[in-house]
Amino acid sequence: MEKIYLDNAATSRNKPETVKKAILNYYENIGCSPGRGGYEDSLQAGRLIIETRNTIADFFNVNDLKQIVFTHNITYALNIGIKGILKKGDHVITSTMEHNSILRPLNSLETSGIINVDYIKCDEKGRLNSKKVEAAINSKTKLIILTYASNVSGTLMPVKEVGKIASRNNIYFMLDTAQAAGVYDIDFQKLKVDFLAFTGHKALMGPTGTGGFAVSKKMAAQMEPLIEGGTGSKSDQEEQPDFLPDKFESGTMNTMGISGLKSGVEFIKKIGIKKIKEHELQLGKVFLEGLNKIPEIKIIGPANLREQMPTFSITAGAKDLGQLSFELDEKYNIMTRSGLHCAPFAHKTLGTYPEGSLRFSIGYFNTLPEIEFTLDALNKIL
Ligand SMILES: Cc1ncc(COP(=O)(O)O)c(C=O)c1O
Repeated sequence: MEKIYLDNAATSRNKPETVKKAILNYYENIGCSPGRGGYEDSLQAGRLIIETRNTIADFFNVNDLKQIVFTHNITYALNIGIKGILKKGDHVITSTMEHNSILRPLNSLETSGIINVDYIKCDEKGRLNSKKVEAAINSKTKLIILTYASNVSGTLMPVKEVGKIASRNNIYFMLDTAQAAGVYDIDFQKLKVDFLAFTGHKALMGPTGTGGFAVSKKMAAQMEPLIEGGTGSKSDQEEQPDFLPDKFESGTMNTMGISGLKSGVEFIKKIGIKKIKEHELQLGKVFLEGLNKIPEIKIIGPANLREQMPTFSITAGAKDLGQLSFELDEKYNIMTRSGLHCAPFAHKTLGTYPEGSLRFSIGYFNTLPEIEFTLDALNKIL
């Protein structure tokens, strides 16, 4: 058996051939900075960026492609959103299942005395009760931030309900789609999102160094840019341009990565997100059934695919999980991730802090024989 990659929640490893070709094509045939020169190859680089904006806008159902801003990854996007919109005295609501890319910027603003945060406690399977979100709203609440799905237990959040709550109460809604984009159909307008953050290198199939956000024009107008500099526009002006996307896109763009991201999203559209989801859920079902048959294993999280995506965290009795991950790799060439997964609050919520869990995250390129082989390996080790 070839190497088996079950760490898709960290990044998607086997990129589509078209993604690799697009990256190569950029350096072989374009190689110039977009929006910085009037010569043909620079214009072509600029067109590539615009086309990718268009592809992403269409993918998340965003009206105007100018609402799409590119960043290096979702961590940058979330920081730009959080630090750009929040001002002294603002109140924020989030959940205890969030990733450090949300927790840490919130923590630094809170410990500096700028904002107050309510972390709504999820249950021991990571599930959030949306009524608790509504109950936490006060007159100072400016922002609700939520992940679409937990990167630890795969638990799906009630994003539809929370989007309605935010909209009804005139509060901005920020969504972290790091885990779900590319597997679940995420609609910016239907979910009533104001700030949809995405990362390019996970299920969107793009290369590392890509990501960004879609932002409502209303929220964008109220945000301060975190990073200012050259945009290739209004260069006679000392101030940062105030229009989208330039307001938030300073410095030379990662055109190589963005062209790969375009091909990644086109790949998803070609296969069909429904088919991708069905494939992953089918493998998840087999894996879940197999895990349930191993007495030493405890599944952390909902353990049903209606309430979670096919990312599974486990503990295994007294067995050290770092050791288990090591043995899976060493003896069976199976790649997994043990530890806290950059989400300490989530592990506290799930009862797995500070030891953490062992995570298996399924991706589109995984196959049924790989899942069966992994279950077999677990049975042999435990
Ligand atoms: C839910 C969630 N949010 C944010 C991130 C951060 O992603 P990136 O490292 O691409 O910025 C991750 C990465 O694992 C994640 O799982």
